[in-house]
Amino acid sequence: MTRKVGVVGQGHVGETLANNLLVTGTVDELVLVDTNEKKLNANATDFEDMAANLPTHTKVVRNDYQALADADVVVIAVGNIGVQNDDAKHDRFVELKVNSVAAKEVGTKLKEVGFNGVLVSISNPCDVIAALFQKYTGLPKNQVVGTGTLLDTARLRKVVGQALDVDPRSVSGYALGEHGNSQFAAWSQVRVLGQNITDLAAVSDQLDLDALAEATKAGGYTVFHGKLYTNFGIAAAALRLVTAILNDANVELPCSNFREEYGTYCGYPAVLGKQGVVKTLQLNLTADEEKLLAKSANYIKTRFDETVQ
Ligand code: 2OP
Repeated sequence: MTRKVGVVGQGHVGETLANNLLVTGTVDELVLVDTNEKKLNANATDFEDMAANLPTHTKVVRNDYQALADADVVVIAVGNIGVQNDDAKHDRFVELKVNSVAAKEVGTKLKEVGFNGVLVSISNPCDVIAALFQKYTGLPKNQVVGTGTLLDTARLRKVVGQALDVDPRSVSGYALGEHGNSQFAAWSQVRVLGQNITDLAAVSDQLDLDALAEATKAGGYTVFHGKLYTNFGIAAAALRLVTAILNDANVELPCSNFREEYGTYCGYPAVLGKQGVVKTLQLNLTADEEKLLAKSANYIKTRFDETVQ
């Protein structure tokens, strides 16, 4: 079976993801789409120039919506237009106006060509844009996910790992809620080398969980201040989701997925496979964490409702 993936948007994030997909040999056919023909063609040509030196073969297709009809996964990486301003970027909602229009245009086209794979949305504000894509494509909710707090969770695992001098892969747990300012670190779920982090923090005056939660949340802005975009962290998160879907992995990953109890997309772990979300989970959060999650989810839902009315 040919593994076919589309990437819509060839800005910093879309091109980094396309590069990751090519160098890892994750796809057999890669469809690249962008409204900027010149940039699209330059990237496609540059990617073709990689081919003779890559270990695996990938066909690169240019700007063809029809070619997305039978794609297994389409990733949306549009955005960051007109917000290349250091001050403007302390809230991902600055991109809502432009990206909600793009979601309608791209979502409608995907529906017209009959795309029925899994849509992975990266564009910000991530949870609201994922919900808009679900609406405009008409895809079942389990077939639309956003990268959501998979990236914030990676940042959480990084800062905890750095504080305790362990590899981030030896830290488990999640950042939950909005991929944005109302997210929070669910400390009750965070474990390091077999121990809950709240137990470690109780006996340590070095481990400041509030400071680590703040560093997690600020992670995107920290990178943004340096180069006015972020790409590597988010592209690795998107690659992880695409791989889980193509592999039909049934792997648990925190990402933006539709939560019935809140009636909205938000960052929460789910089991991912070929059909997208194949199972939803129920965490054992503390009462305070449940409140933070409800508040964050409610914020996303309110902003979504405002956008579609
Ligand atoms: C990030 O957090 C900007 O949402 C993007 O890296």
